[in-house]
Amino acid sequence: MANIEKYIEENKNLINDFIKTHFKKRACNKKFPHNKFSLNDAILYTLATPGKRIRPIVLLITAESLGFPNKKRLLPFASSIELIHSYSLIHDDLPAMDNDNLRRGKPTNHIVFGEASAILAGDALLAEAFVILSDKEYTEGFDPKKIIEIIQELSYASGINGLAGGQFLDVNSFGMPIDFENIEYINKNKTASLIGAACAMGAILAGGDGGIVDNFKKFGLYLGLAFQTIDDILGITGNKGILGKTAGIDKANNKCTVASSIGLEKTYELINEYNEKALRYLSRTGVIPDTLTEFTCYLTNRIN
Ligand code: IPE
Ligand code: IPE
Ligand code: MG
Ligand code: MG
Repeated sequence: MANIEKYIEENKNLINDFIKTHFKKRACNKKFPHNKFSLNDAILYTLATPGKRIRPIVLLITAESLGFPNKKRLLPFASSIELIHSYSLIHDDLPAMDNDNLRRGKPTNHIVFGEASAILAGDALLAEAFVILSDKEYTEGFDPKKIIEIIQELSYASGINGLAGGQFLDVNSFGMPIDFENIEYINKNKTASLIGAACAMGAILAGGDGGIVDNFKKFGLYLGLAFQTIDDILGITGNKGILGKTAGIDKANNKCTVASSIGLEKTYELINEYNEKALRYLSRTGVIPDTLTEFTCYLTNRIN
């Protein structure tokens, strides 16, 4: 296993362990005799599925690259981003949105628990992210100003000019011939904003100044644009077994993607351009860029 893969695996395990422990503490298994499952069951179903944990991991690498010494203390903040991401996937798969029945190799949340429960599991995850970010136990010892700043980064990236805004335009464009600039605008909002926020949060927590945070955020934004563009290519060229989700769903939804708009060859060139821009911003942060460069390369070559 290459060094970066080993590093990713180790960090993924730390994130998964934190999530498990946190939800054990917060478990609400209340259900009535006529209920087959609790809200907790629906939440844990999605959190236990094997996601790549890219967003929390990039927060951890960013903070480490700035010399933050105690990774364990960052796990709650990193995991809060994964909760937002997980909520967004549950909602993204709903019949009212992408209408997908497979996610991370398992039936989607609404297929197992029903639409209403899936919506509520998503809502609860969104709120829980901010429960974590404002939890005394996790924030103790951090400058409260920094905690407010990271809450602002995450809430902005999740909302109107971020994930929700991007998803709104995305699902309201099925069957419409949107041009490249608008597709890129959607990708920036629905996906790149959260990855940008992850980098910004890592930089803030590690004590980076405004300029450093800004360059890290831009690094994350271009990394995120490449990430979504690759995701759309994999949706065309990948297979269900490896992806763990339905291949060809964009076509089924009659959805324009970068690849369907400019063709596969130009899309590969674009991904290189995004990566180059990402690495240019990374070089402006002044950190030793090795791990984040390897991570960028790893994401580009991913197969799921
Ligand atoms: C899928 O994200 C949705 C996109 C924004 C492309 P990931 O590819 O990070 O999904 P998981 O978490 O690994 O399942
Ligand atoms: C997902 O975009 C973006 C968010 C969930 C915010 P997609 O719909 O392209 O991602 P997949 O292919 O379902 O994972
Ligand atoms: Mg979608
Ligand atoms: Mg989708």
